Amino acid sequence: MIAPSILSADFARLADELAAIEGSDWVHVDVMDAHFVPNLTLGLPVVEALLKATSIPMDCHLMISDPDRWAVGYAEAGAHNVTVHVEAAKDPVRIARDLRAAGAKAGLSIKPGTPLEPYVELLREFDTLLVMSVEPGFGGQGFIADVLDKVRTVRNLVDTGHLNLLVEIDGGINRDTIEQAAEAGVDCFVAGSAVYGASDPGKAVAALREQARN
Ligand code: DX5
Ligand code: ZN
Repeated sequence: MIAPSILSADFARLADELAAIEGSDWVHVDVMDAHFVPNLTLGLPVVEALLKATSIPMDCHLMISDPDRWAVGYAEAGAHNVTVHVEAAKDPVRIARDLRAAGAKAGLSIKPGTPLEPYVELLREFDTLLVMSVEPGFGGQGFIADVLDKVRTVRNLVDTGHLNLLVEIDGGINRDTIEQAAEAGVDCFVAGSAVYGASDPGKAVAALREQARN
């Protein structure tokens, strides 16, 4: 699966930018609060408008300090998957249950420096694990290949039936890095600059999907 991130899109033309990636599996929307991360993007009112503008399932990545308060609102608005950061969530189990009760999939994200092991049991409550392969906050950064160890660990836990979730990776995914991420066992690839930095975003999505299959 490919999930283009609109962080690298033209924010003055978001409806057109969504139309350009029609046929993508998900569209990835980065919510940043200038507190959990040193950048500010958009929030629920914009997500609500984007949901009206597209039928692509929306993957909301909440890089915010108080997801316990805000996450369920994105599920109620109609997001397909809502991801919170383990470093920010006070009660991740409750968040996951609230998200699912509101009809969304529940996602948990871990920053590059955060170990996976302490959270393996917690992952039973979640539908997706978003492994960050850059420090969250900005598009266009270089891929941190070390995080692929976490991907391999969770892939193994899924393949042996210990966990049931989708493995997603976010940050620095492009034509040079997607194959190693695919080999490590990623199911869903977020790509911002590699899609919206291309002259034809739709073709860039198709090319990435093809390359992930190789
Ligand atoms: C970074 C965001 C990413 C970002 C990825 O904090 O979570 O989703 O858009 O951008 P690229 O693909 O350019 O690294
Ligand atoms: Zn993201």
